[in-house]
Amino acid sequence: MKRKFITAIISTAVIGFIAVLGFNLMLNNLNTEPIRDTVSSEDTYSVDTTQTDSELAESDESEVYSVLSQNISTDNVQTDSESDTQSDTTETDISSSEKVTTDSDNTNHIVIPYDGVWEQILVNRWNVIPDDYTFETFTLDSGNQIDIRIYNALQKMFDDARSLGIYPVVTEAYRSHDDQVAMMQSYIDAYIAEGYDEKTAKRMAEEYVAIPGTSEHEIGLALDINPDIEYSTTEEVYGWLAENAYQYGFILRYPEGKESITGINYEPWHYRYVGEECAAEIYESGMCLEEYLENKQQ
Ligand code: DAL
Ligand code: ZN
Repeated sequence: MKRKFITAIISTAVIGFIAVLGFNLMLNNLNTEPIRDTVSSEDTYSVDTTQTDSELAESDESEVYSVLSQNISTDNVQTDSESDTQSDTTETDISSSEKVTTDSDNTNHIVIPYDGVWEQILVNRWNVIPDDYTFETFTLDSGNQIDIRIYNALQKMFDDARSLGIYPVVTEAYRSHDDQVAMMQSYIDAYIAEGYDEKTAKRMAEEYVAIPGTSEHEIGLALDINPDIEYSTTEEVYGWLAENAYQYGFILRYPEGKESITGINYEPWHYRYVGEECAAEIYESGMCLEEYLENKQQ
């Protein structure tokens, strides 16, 4: 019995180590090419003169996934029959120490109907983008688009970061519904290529990619922000954003420890505009957006 217990402890430690290693490799891979983002030259967005256009490269969550999947031990592959035993809740073994747990009957999840306050629209697997939701986009130099209403805040945040020697870049922003469908499929295909059955692959993909129709990227309010590795490290950029983005109205949308509420694993690169007041309250309270909105309703 004791031996079994010790074996279980050791196994857990080894799996944890592999997960952390995989995540670090994933982040390192993001940095294999210099990336930066500026808005078009006719606007006032800050362009660092030490950077050149040739440094522009794109990175997105599917790239993150493809590296992640390379680091998934095949020991973690679940068969259909194994995953079928988890009828009420489903879990997965990938990089996050906290895992997404999804109730199949959708109980106890926060549902907040859209009331017209665009900054605080709740979009997740339990809150679908309203059919009549519209917004105007602004195109960054990289070709990424954002909701034009968040442009000034983004510009100020990047200007201030750069003035402090922190060089973030937007690597992914607005995605059309079709883009989101394609991204989801690419994750599923990659997990299947790793040896996972289709059902498991889909479930795992949905922990990093929002179900099409429920992604904040589809409404231009989400940004994936990574370092320009010529000037900054991942730690510097993610660290600075985590402590400062709220001052500009952006929140770390998928924090560690909130996976069962957001439905998405920890994503240190994914920021969402919610407005300064809301962002500050979320930052100071430690709540995620779902909790904040629910709390506000009470
Ligand atoms: N990766 C985030 C959850 C999205 O697909 O919107
Ligand atoms: Zn994202």
